[in-house]
Amino acid sequence: MSTSPVIVALDFPNEAKALSLVDQLDTSLCRLKVGKELFTRLGPAFVEKLVGRGFDVFLDLKFHDIPNTVAAACDAAADLGVWMMNLHASGGRKMMQTARERLEGKSHRPKLIAVTILTSLGEEDIHEIGFSGTPGENVLRLATLAESAGLDGVVCSPLEAAAIREQAGQDFLLVTPGVRPASASLDDQKRVMTPAEAMAAGSSCLVIGRPVTAAPDPLQALKDINASL
Ligand code: C5P
Repeated sequence: MSTSPVIVALDFPNEAKALSLVDQLDTSLCRLKVGKELFTRLGPAFVEKLVGRGFDVFLDLKFHDIPNTVAAACDAAADLGVWMMNLHASGGRKMMQTARERLEGKSHRPKLIAVTILTSLGEEDIHEIGFSGTPGENVLRLATLAESAGLDGVVCSPLEAAAIREQAGQDFLLVTPGVRPASASLDDQKRVMTPAEAMAAGSSCLVIGRPVTAAPDPLQALKDINASL
């Protein structure tokens, strides 16, 4: 179990590249995130391999379907031994509650968090799919819904963290990507905070990809981030 809030995003196209990073990491330094690309290529066996090495794994598959199907998928993810998984809050209260209830019956009960509004969507985009108001207003509404449906937290931008923290309980997890050490390249992230700023804004966990995965010395980059906190 890691004491660091950092979750390293394993955004790699194949197992060899992912493992060449994982081999350098230590379970005390970070948790790991497996997303749709790696999971679609390598499947559950890869997740079980990481869990077998002692890592806390965040399975980032963002489930969104009818309640029964999402609950069954969450059940299957729990059987892989993952530490945390996620779904879309816009799937609705019943979907979130059914998934949460299914996980409560498991001997190993992973954390379940919700995606509110994808940060790739702007105001025009959300209006086109029938949402009104600003993305920020929708994020807050959906985070409140996720908390009242019994979820453990949400994925959000560090820029939204303070507003969500103000209205959510202290234990509600705010898991924030869009984090960049001051010295790192922004890549395609536009609105970022440093790891220390994101923690000060109320983040519980920091999802960090390229500042670690693309660093000349990934282990040192991760240690530097941990030391900055
Ligand atoms: O390389 P980088 O640090 O930008 O990686 C961030 C990770 O967080 C990626 O896996 C990306 O898909 C994910 N993510 C994000 N922004 C969101 C949700 C997830 O960057 N709003």
